[in-house]
Amino acid sequence: MDRKPLIAGNWKMHTNIEEARQLAAAVVKAAARVPDREVMIAPPYTALAAVESVIAGTGVMLGAQNVHWEGKGAFTGEISGIMLRDIGCGMAIVGHSERRHVFGESGRMINRRVKGALQSGLIPVFCIGETLEQREAGQTMQVLENQVRAGLDSVALTDGGQLVVAYEPVWAIGTGKTATEAQAQEAHSFIRGLLADLYEKNIAAQIRILYGGSVKPDNIDILMQQNDIDGALVGGAALNAESFERIICFQ
Ligand code: PGA
Repeated sequence: MDRKPLIAGNWKMHTNIEEARQLAAAVVKAAARVPDREVMIAPPYTALAAVESVIAGTGVMLGAQNVHWEGKGAFTGEISGIMLRDIGCGMAIVGHSERRHVFGESGRMINRRVKGALQSGLIPVFCIGETLEQREAGQTMQVLENQVRAGLDSVALTDGGQLVVAYEPVWAIGTGKTATEAQAQEAHSFIRGLLADLYEKNIAAQIRILYGGSVKPDNIDILMQQNDIDGALVGGAALNAESFERIICFQ
């Protein structure tokens, strides 16, 4: 089953509007060289409009870094899927490890966000991953299974393209420590099996699973050669035009 590779840049709480414009313009140029893959960038909310005006009509997709499940209401500090669609977003990152571990978002909350994204027509980039402590205690697969089952609880899909999963071991995020390609492949293949348990075979086989955690120009090629790695969710290296261009143009 063909899954189009997806390279996604998570800019986190970085870039002012002008920096965002310039970075987005560089991403557009790089993405145009490799039409066989998809590229998404998730700037901070304040730069969504500026980035949208740079990428409009280019095929580069706009992503948000989170999404609330309600369309509107008294939810200070939150943003709805309808609002994100309105500004041009096609995807939203949900359950990022910083949301889980720094801001205490629960599996149940993340599940609501996944559903909210889908309801408003956004593709959730649903993130999961174990901490170092959990890996060292041999709990990785159990943690991944719990996160998948909680996050995707009663999430119905009619097409595998409606969902993206990102495996991001917490110990590899922003640390410069990447999972080896074998560790990543092992986790991805396990996640693929979980998805096959939850969804019809042809739907599960179409869901893209990204790897994230210190993806860099010098490890992207080997990661992308793994059978069950369908792309990357890139933080730090997505903030530098040259390194993100190289990642987009992986071989
Ligand atoms: P990193 O971040 O590439 O800086 O490790 C990845 C992420 O948090 O999505």
